[in-house]
Amino acid sequence: MAQPGLIYWKSEVNGVETVLSVSPSLRLIDLLRDKLELTGPKLSCGIGRCGACMVLLDGKPVNACLVMAYQCSGKRITTVEGISGQELHPIQQAFLTEGGFQCGYCTPGMIVTLKALLDENPSPSRGELEAGLCGNLCRCTGYGGIERAVRQFVKARSGTEPTTSGELAAGMDAH
Ligand code: FES
Ligand code: FES
Repeated sequence: MAQPGLIYWKSEVNGVETVLSVSPSLRLIDLLRDKLELTGPKLSCGIGRCGACMVLLDGKPVNACLVMAYQCSGKRITTVEGISGQELHPIQQAFLTEGGFQCGYCTPGMIVTLKALLDENPSPSRGELEAGLCGNLCRCTGYGGIERAVRQFVKARSGTEPTTSGELAAGMDAH
C-alpha cells in the first residue's frame, strides 16, 4: 500500500520484481538513478533530444527523461546494467574493441538502442542503423568508432557487413 500522496509502483527492472511508493510526478530517469541507483542511464538534455537516458520498456527503446514513472508500472524495464550477464554483451565488447566512446556518457543509451534495433533486425543496412540511432547523439567521437563497433558486431553475428543505403549514409558522413 502506497503512502499518502504517493502511488504504488511495481515493475520488473532488469529481471527483478521491484515495488516502490513513488510520487506521481517522478520521471522514470529519476526513479532509476535516484531510487534504484541504476546510473547507467544518463540525464543530459532532459528533453528527449540526446538519447543518453535511453532504456528499454517492454523491449522498445524510450527516453527515460520523457516518461513518467507511473506510466511504466507493470512493464518490463531494462537498463544497460541489465543487458549484460556475467560477461559484457557482444555489443558492449564491440564498442570496447573499436573504441566506440570517449567520455562514455552517450554509450549506455547507444547500447540499449542498438540492442533493441539488432534484436528486431539482425542484419540491418547502414541506413537502417543510422535511422535507428538517429535519437542518440554523441558529443565526442565523431561517430567513427561507434560505426566501426556496430559494423564489427553485425559482421561477427551475420557474416555480412551492413550495406550502404543512399541518403542516410551520406547524412552520417556529414556528422
Ligand atoms: S536526457 Fe533524455 S533524451 Fe537527453
Ligand atoms: S563518448 Fe562522449 S558523448 Fe559520446
